[in-house]
Amino acid sequence: MTHKVALLPGDGIGPEVMNVAVKLMHHIAGKFDVALETSEHPIGGASYDLHNNPLTDETLQACYDSDAVLLGAVGGYKWENLEHHLKPEAALLKLRKSLGLYANIRPAKVYPEFLDSSSLKNEIIEGTDFVVFRELTGGIYFGEPRGIDSEKGWNTMVYSTEEVERITRKAFEAAMHRGKKVTSVDKANVLEVSQFWRNVVERVSKEYPEVKLNHMYVDNAAMQVVRDPRQFDVVVTSNLFGDIISDIAGMITGSLGMLPSASLGEKYALYEPVHGSAPDIAGQNKANPIAMILSVAMMFEYSFKMNKAASLTEEAVGRVLKNGYRTIDINSVDGKLVSTSDFAELVLHQFDEVYNEQALGVFTL
Ligand SMILES: NC(=O)c1ccc[n+]([C@@H]2O[C@H](COP(=O)([O-])OP(=O)(O)OC[C@H]3O[C@@H](n4cnc5c(N)ncnc54)[C@H](O)[C@@H]3O)[C@@H](O)[C@H]2O)c1
Repeated sequence: MTHKVALLPGDGIGPEVMNVAVKLMHHIAGKFDVALETSEHPIGGASYDLHNNPLTDETLQACYDSDAVLLGAVGGYKWENLEHHLKPEAALLKLRKSLGLYANIRPAKVYPEFLDSSSLKNEIIEGTDFVVFRELTGGIYFGEPRGIDSEKGWNTMVYSTEEVERITRKAFEAAMHRGKKVTSVDKANVLEVSQFWRNVVERVSKEYPEVKLNHMYVDNAAMQVVRDPRQFDVVVTSNLFGDIISDIAGMITGSLGMLPSASLGEKYALYEPVHGSAPDIAGQNKANPIAMILSVAMMFEYSFKMNKAASLTEEAVGRVLKNGYRTIDINSVDGKLVSTSDFAELVLHQFDEVYNEQALGVFTL
């Protein structure tokens, strides 16, 4: 089987983490007899330098022609003073919109090695493993009317049946392969749009009788994520609430260099680390590649249904951390400091180990 992947390395540390993750991606896919046909295209500042345009029609077409898109990061000092629509970051918004990516997915998983670096107590976060499904193309960020004058500012929070149904289905489908529990976060005690959201979620939930659904007001959800994060499996919520909840969830679990994400639409899917282009460390082989590697794992899971490849990749990353290896952003006094490329090599080596153990039945998922 062959899958086509469009690679958009972008700027700063984007190409560095992309290079090592792509090597690993081919290696892992090969183990499962899956071939990946990759093509590389400029985006962001790199594209602006070549074409005076941060996202060309050619790059967009390559994304349309692929089964999945893998993005590094965009932006940097060099392009900071460009007009808004020419800035590298404008490419991201246009790309997400053009591909119709309405579901943003961010896992919140705690690695045992990082229990001590969290601002929360070990006994609270140990074993945390949930995922936030945030609606990405609707809600108050896009609703009309919107505006500002000297007397007031206004925005509109609006959701249609179709918008709520499709993100809810994605969340329930994910829950079927996880802990079979969905928490829908809203503000139905105050907002009509949330009452509507809740009604639609209830209706869609009937299609998944095995999955347990509960509802939570967003203020309570923010509190519960830090009070008892282990209670969550899959969280589904609107654009605004998801923006906040996914950031809280991300930060209880580790550093920025470790957070992957997926954005899914009806036809297309984009995978990218949560971090930016880190111009302060770019070009020095110092960046943490974990967020990028785990974004590849999400691609295996969500786009190619290679769940085992995804979980073995996560296990390999966990073992490298357990062996004490660290990139500069997560290094500690007793950590073994390694470069981006060395860290990725260690993951590749651990992947082979865990793959072989699994084949022999020593390691079970
Ligand atoms: N999705 C994206 O492409 C994206 C997201 C956020 C910011 N940006 C852009 O990136 C540029 C820099 O933004 P910023 O500094 O606010 O955020 P950033 O995420 O690039 O960096 C913040 C800090 O975290 C560190 N860091 C980030 N990722 C790391 C990694 N993988 N390994 C080690 N350290 C890491 C950086 O060195 C920096 O000190 C800006 O141009 C911004 O617009 C792009």
